[in-house]
Amino acid sequence: MKILALSSSPSRHRNSDTMLDNFIIGMNKIDGIEIEKIYLEDIAIDFYNFENGNGPLLHEGDFKILTDKIKNSDGLVIATPTYNFSVPAHLKNFIDRIRFISLDLKNRNKIGQPVGKLSYLRMYFLVSGGTPNWAETILFFAFPSFWLRGVFLYFNAKVLGSFYTGDVRAFENKKILDKCINKGEKYARKVKNKNNNSILERIFFRSPQI
Ligand SMILES: Cc1cc2nc3c(=O)[nH]c(=O)nc-3n(C[C@H](O)[C@H](O)[C@H](O)COP(=O)(O)O)c2cc1C
Repeated sequence: MKILALSSSPSRHRNSDTMLDNFIIGMNKIDGIEIEKIYLEDIAIDFYNFENGNGPLLHEGDFKILTDKIKNSDGLVIATPTYNFSVPAHLKNFIDRIRFISLDLKNRNKIGQPVGKLSYLRMYFLVSGGTPNWAETILFFAFPSFWLRGVFLYFNAKVLGSFYTGDVRAFENKKILDKCINKGEKYARKVKNKNNNSILERIFFRSPQI
């Protein structure tokens, strides 16, 4: 089975990137899983517009390779910092541009929305931020984990969980990094077992599929 690990912070070896490295250590404990880590900033992706809506253009070779890899993966882990209650622009643009692999625009669900195509993909999100954990828990709807989980549910992917830390020195916090190792192992096991959505999604989300 294949899992892609996408590091989306422009700051390498800092918080979310180090969380991802430790999550990968945990995933590697499970046999039969092939993991590839990719830095999103290494992939040039034009902003979405009507012309490139159907897929990568000729000069976007690396983006084409990345979307082909996603199509052949069983899992996708996205690590990101919180930027202005959202994600860095490059990650937002990547999510806008993968519309062509994520949505079937010719098919509409019960509420008239395009049908999600990522049902084969099991997601996990690692999020760093400067807001303390207790405040993020209260204001969860204004933070990237909530938004990312929602978007990928819209794409019909399986959402297996997310982990947020508000420690701005998470990259040297052994307790947090050990948690990432633990969560990586659990996630990889769930990918291997083809688990369904996490408990939160199962309680609060009903897919309006056709
Ligand atoms: C441009 C910018 C915007 C930010 N906006 C927020 C924010 O809205 N909420 C928050 O909790 N932290 C915010 N932060 C803090 C970062 O999310 C935090 O420092 C995080 O740990 C950085 O992660 P990284 O080391 O993986 O890049 C912001 C940082 C920057 C540089």
